[in-house]
Amino acid sequence: MSKVTPDPFFLSFRALVEEYKALATGECNEARATSSRVAAYIDAQLAMIEELKAREQAGRPVPHASEAVVLMTGLQGYTLLQRAPWLDADVRARLETLAGWPMYLERGPYRFTADFGTHHQLRWAKEYAAIAHRPSLRAVEIGVFEGMTSTWLLDNVLTDPTSRLICVDAFEPPRNVDNYAFARRANAPTPEQLFDANIAASSGASKVQKIAAYSGVALRTLPVDTFDLVYVDGSHLAPDVLEDAILVWRMLKVGALVTFDDYGWELPVDPLERPQPALDAFMTIFAGKFELVHKSWQLTLRKLRA
Ligand SMILES: C[S@@+](CC[C@H](N)C(=O)[O-])C[C@H]1O[C@@H](n2cnc3c(N)ncnc32)[C@H](O)[C@@H]1O
Repeated sequence: MSKVTPDPFFLSFRALVEEYKALATGECNEARATSSRVAAYIDAQLAMIEELKAREQAGRPVPHASEAVVLMTGLQGYTLLQRAPWLDADVRARLETLAGWPMYLERGPYRFTADFGTHHQLRWAKEYAAIAHRPSLRAVEIGVFEGMTSTWLLDNVLTDPTSRLICVDAFEPPRNVDNYAFARRANAPTPEQLFDANIAASSGASKVQKIAAYSGVALRTLPVDTFDLVYVDGSHLAPDVLEDAILVWRMLKVGALVTFDDYGWELPVDPLERPQPALDAFMTIFAGKFELVHKSWQLTLRKLRA
């Protein structure tokens, strides 16, 4: 297994995630979530957002896009307001400001509560240029969430009326992320409802087949030697990613592309809760059968032979 060298910035991002969990999860109580500790958390989180923006502007890697962290911070403010009524008035006023931050990224006809795609889209446009707009493309996305990447694929790659996209998602919180104990805002749509609304707003809606199931179940129902492009962003647990990679490999045509998200993800302390060990093992075992198209935060491979 290749050794991951932790970036100190990623470690401080992780520490803040842990601090938020300590403040807002089941242990949320007056002794733990004190006004001074919550105020210090808000300060640190605001500083983190500025640092994320600076890193993005400098083209340096970030654990999450700053726009997404802004949305998450608004939700954290809302959650702490619900869960910690004992906080001092000045801290509650700061949380109310955060809770008033935008809930959605508005992108044309679509809206999202998180951003897992924007910072990859320029690169995808180049990587997928050779197949984009071709007729009869067959693509699969595993882990679609609210449909940010699905709608991008429909609008930028699967544009021909004869192309199709299969969208696989369990539509349940991932098993290795405890959803950071966010309170759901009153009447907020679920990810699946947002996915459905975003796909309905797309001119490519009729090309989409949704399969609401775990990938380990869904992929076994799909045909082999059929797909031109598969985007893998479901479970990030190494055993699940390894299973996805092996099942996807059979589904790809020779010459087809597969992109795995979060190859460079360092957030979970346990490496077996990250995709990288699975993908390194896969590349070792399948050596000679693929061309490495891209390896950084994401991994893109082209299938050369079965
Ligand atoms: C990071 S989100 C995907 C983001 C999406 N690809 C995008 O670009 O907007 C991960 C998604 O994977 C789904 N998921 C997690 N484990 C899964 C599994 N074993 N099978 C299918 N979907 C899974 C979750 O429900 C979640 O919606």
